[in-house]
Amino acid sequence: MTPETLAEIHAAAFPNARSWSAKEFSALMDQTGSILSGDDRCFALLRVTLDEAEVLTLATASEHRRKGLASVALAQAEAFAQKSGAASVFLEVAEDNEAAKALYAKAGYTQVGRRPGYYLPKDGAAVAALVLRKQLQVV
Ligand SMILES: CC(C)(COP(=O)(O)OP(=O)(O)OC[C@H]1O[C@@H](n2cnc3c(N)ncnc32)[C@H](O)[C@@H]1OP(=O)(O)O)[C@@H](O)C(=O)NCCC(=O)NCCS
Repeated sequence: MTPETLAEIHAAAFPNARSWSAKEFSALMDQTGSILSGDDRCFALLRVTLDEAEVLTLATASEHRRKGLASVALAQAEAFAQKSGAASVFLEVAEDNEAAKALYAKAGYTQVGRRPGYYLPKDGAAVAALVLRKQLQVV
Protein backbone atom coordinates (compact mmCIF):
# COMPACT_ATOMS: atom_id res chain seq x y z
CA MET A 1 0.00 0.00 0.00
CA THR A 2 1.47 3.30 -1.02
CA PRO A 3 0.64 6.58 0.76
CA GLU A 4 -0.97 7.66 -2.52
CA THR A 5 -3.34 4.65 -2.50
CA LEU A 6 -4.23 5.28 1.15
CA ALA A 7 -4.96 8.94 0.41
CA GLU A 8 -7.14 7.97 -2.56
CA ILE A 9 -9.22 5.42 -0.61
CA HIS A 10 -9.49 7.80 2.34
CA ALA A 11 -10.62 10.80 0.25
CA ALA A 12 -13.31 8.72 -1.45
CA ALA A 13 -14.47 7.25 1.87
CA PHE A 14 -14.73 10.63 3.64
CA PRO A 15 -15.99 13.04 0.96
CA ASN A 16 -17.41 15.41 3.55
CA ALA A 17 -14.20 15.75 5.57
CA ARG A 18 -10.79 17.28 4.99
CA SER A 19 -8.69 14.93 2.89
CA TRP A 20 -5.48 13.49 4.26
CA SER A 21 -2.69 13.89 1.72
CA ALA A 22 -0.25 11.16 0.68
CA LYS A 23 2.43 13.16 2.51
CA GLU A 24 0.38 13.06 5.72
CA PHE A 25 -0.14 9.31 5.37
CA SER A 26 3.57 8.86 4.78
CA ALA A 27 4.39 10.82 7.95
CA LEU A 28 1.81 8.84 9.98
CA MET A 29 3.21 5.53 8.73
CA ASP A 30 6.71 6.61 9.78
CA GLN A 31 5.66 7.41 13.34
CA THR A 32 6.73 5.12 16.16
CA GLY A 33 3.91 2.73 17.04
CA SER A 34 2.18 3.06 13.69
CA ILE A 35 0.39 -0.07 12.48
CA LEU A 36 -1.00 -0.45 8.97
CA SER A 37 -2.99 -3.45 7.79
CA GLY A 38 -5.02 -4.23 4.70
CA ASP A 39 -4.34 -3.97 1.00
CA ASP A 40 -5.19 -1.79 -1.99
CA ARG A 41 -8.94 -2.25 -1.33
CA CYS A 42 -9.15 -1.57 2.39
CA PHE A 43 -6.85 -0.46 5.19
CA ALA A 44 -6.73 0.15 8.92
CA LEU A 45 -4.22 2.59 10.42
CA LEU A 46 -3.61 2.36 14.18
CA ARG A 47 -1.10 3.89 16.54
CA VAL A 48 0.13 2.27 19.72
CA THR A 49 1.18 4.47 22.63
CA LEU A 50 2.37 2.50 25.65
CA ASP A 51 -0.47 0.09 26.52
CA GLU A 52 -3.14 1.74 24.40
CA ALA A 53 -3.86 1.69 20.68
CA GLU A 54 -5.96 4.15 18.70
CA VAL A 55 -7.66 3.53 15.38
CA LEU A 56 -6.61 6.61 13.39
CA THR A 57 -8.63 5.68 10.35
CA LEU A 58 -10.23 2.73 8.59
CA ALA A 59 -11.71 2.66 5.12
CA THR A 60 -12.77 0.32 2.35
CA ALA A 61 -13.08 1.37 -1.29
CA SER A 62 -16.79 1.53 -2.08
CA GLU A 63 -16.73 -1.27 -4.69
CA HIS A 64 -15.24 -3.69 -2.14
CA ARG A 65 -17.53 -3.11 0.83
CA ARG A 66 -19.52 -5.76 2.70
CA LYS A 67 -16.96 -8.47 1.94
CA GLY A 68 -15.48 -8.53 5.42
CA LEU A 69 -12.34 -6.61 4.43
CA ALA A 70 -12.53 -3.94 7.13
CA SER A 71 -13.23 -6.55 9.80
CA VAL A 72 -10.16 -8.52 8.76
CA ALA A 73 -7.92 -5.44 8.50
CA LEU A 74 -9.06 -4.27 11.93
CA ALA A 75 -8.52 -7.68 13.52
CA GLN A 76 -5.03 -7.94 12.01
CA ALA A 77 -4.10 -4.47 13.25
CA GLU A 78 -5.46 -5.28 16.72
CA ALA A 79 -3.32 -8.43 16.82
CA PHE A 80 -0.20 -6.43 15.90
CA ALA A 81 -1.14 -3.80 18.49
CA GLN A 82 -1.48 -6.44 21.18
CA LYS A 83 1.92 -7.90 20.28
CA SER A 84 3.31 -4.36 20.58
CA GLY A 85 2.00 -4.08 24.13
CA ALA A 86 -1.48 -2.59 23.73
CA ALA A 87 -4.05 -3.81 26.24
CA SER A 88 -6.94 -1.88 24.71
CA VAL A 89 -7.97 -0.01 21.58
CA PHE A 90 -10.03 3.14 21.39
CA LEU A 91 -11.40 5.19 18.53
CA GLU A 92 -13.80 7.95 17.63
CA VAL A 93 -16.64 7.43 15.20
CA ALA A 94 -19.24 9.89 13.97
CA GLU A 95 -22.56 9.36 15.69
CA ASP A 96 -24.35 9.22 12.32
CA ASN A 97 -21.96 6.67 10.75
CA GLU A 98 -24.20 3.62 10.98
CA ALA A 99 -21.96 1.35 8.87
CA ALA A 100 -18.88 1.99 11.00
CA LYS A 101 -20.83 1.74 14.27
CA ALA A 102 -22.19 -1.65 13.19
CA LEU A 103 -18.72 -2.81 12.20
CA TYR A 104 -17.19 -1.80 15.53
CA ALA A 105 -20.05 -3.29 17.55
CA LYS A 106 -19.56 -6.57 15.71
CA ALA A 107 -15.82 -6.36 16.44
CA GLY A 108 -16.48 -6.03 20.17
CA TYR A 109 -16.20 -2.27 20.77
CA THR A 110 -18.44 -0.54 23.28
CA GLN A 111 -19.18 3.11 23.83
CA VAL A 112 -17.29 4.79 26.66
CA GLY A 113 -17.87 8.45 25.80
CA ARG A 114 -19.42 11.04 23.53
CA ARG A 115 -17.90 14.30 22.29
CA PRO A 116 -20.65 16.71 21.08
CA GLY A 117 -19.85 18.75 17.97
CA TYR A 118 -16.58 16.89 17.37
CA TYR A 119 -16.82 16.54 13.58
CA LEU A 120 -17.31 19.60 11.41
CA PRO A 121 -18.36 18.36 7.95
CA LYS A 122 -17.73 20.52 4.88
CA ASP A 123 -21.51 20.64 4.44
CA GLY A 124 -24.02 20.44 7.23
CA ALA A 125 -24.09 20.69 10.98
CA ALA A 126 -21.49 19.45 13.45
CA VAL A 127 -21.76 15.80 14.42
CA ALA A 128 -20.89 14.22 17.75
CA ALA A 129 -18.16 11.61 18.05
CA LEU A 130 -18.75 8.45 20.00
CA VAL A 131 -15.68 7.18 21.81
CA LEU A 132 -15.49 3.40 21.61
CA ARG A 133 -13.15 1.04 23.39
CA LYS A 134 -12.22 -2.62 23.21
CA GLN A 135 -10.15 -4.57 25.70
CA LEU A 136 -7.53 -6.72 23.98
CA GLN A 137 -6.44 -8.76 26.95
CA VAL A 138 -7.62 -9.45 30.45
CA VAL A 139 -5.66 -7.33 32.90
C1 LIG B 1 -17.23 1.35 7.61
C2 LIG B 1 -16.46 0.62 6.52
C3 LIG B 1 -14.95 0.75 6.81
C4 LIG B 1 -16.86 -0.86 6.52
O1 LIG B 1 -16.03 -1.54 5.60
P1 LIG B 1 -16.42 -2.98 5.00
O2 LIG B 1 -15.17 -3.56 4.43
O3 LIG B 1 -17.58 -2.84 4.13
O4 LIG B 1 -16.85 -3.73 6.34
P2 LIG B 1 -17.09 -5.31 6.54
O5 LIG B 1 -17.48 -5.92 5.23
O6 LIG B 1 -15.91 -5.88 7.24
O7 LIG B 1 -18.36 -5.28 7.49
C5 LIG B 1 -18.37 -5.91 8.75
C6 LIG B 1 -19.69 -5.68 9.41
O8 LIG B 1 -19.90 -4.29 9.65
C7 LIG B 1 -21.30 -3.98 9.49
N1 LIG B 1 -21.47 -3.11 8.34
C8 LIG B 1 -20.56 -2.77 7.41
N2 LIG B 1 -21.10 -1.91 6.51
C9 LIG B 1 -22.39 -1.73 6.89
C10 LIG B 1 -23.46 -0.96 6.36
N3 LIG B 1 -23.30 -0.20 5.24
N4 LIG B 1 -24.64 -0.97 7.00
C11 LIG B 1 -24.81 -1.72 8.12
N5 LIG B 1 -23.83 -2.48 8.66
C12 LIG B 1 -22.63 -2.48 8.06
C13 LIG B 1 -21.98 -5.31 9.26
O9 LIG B 1 -22.30 -5.85 10.52
C14 LIG B 1 -20.88 -6.11 8.60
O10 LIG B 1 -21.06 -7.49 8.71
P3 LIG B 1 -22.01 -8.25 7.64
O11 LIG B 1 -21.60 -7.77 6.27
O12 LIG B 1 -21.72 -9.69 7.89
O13 LIG B 1 -23.41 -7.83 7.97
C15 LIG B 1 -16.80 1.20 5.11
O14 LIG B 1 -18.21 1.29 4.96
C16 LIG B 1 -16.20 2.56 4.84
O15 LIG B 1 -15.07 2.67 4.35
N6 LIG B 1 -16.94 3.62 5.18
C17 LIG B 1 -16.46 5.00 5.00
C18 LIG B 1 -15.29 5.28 5.92
C19 LIG B 1 -15.65 5.07 7.39
O16 LIG B 1 -16.74 5.41 7.83
N7 LIG B 1 -14.66 4.55 8.16
C20 LIG B 1 -14.81 4.35 9.59
C21 LIG B 1 -14.53 5.62 10.29
S1 LIG B 1 -14.49 5.46 12.04
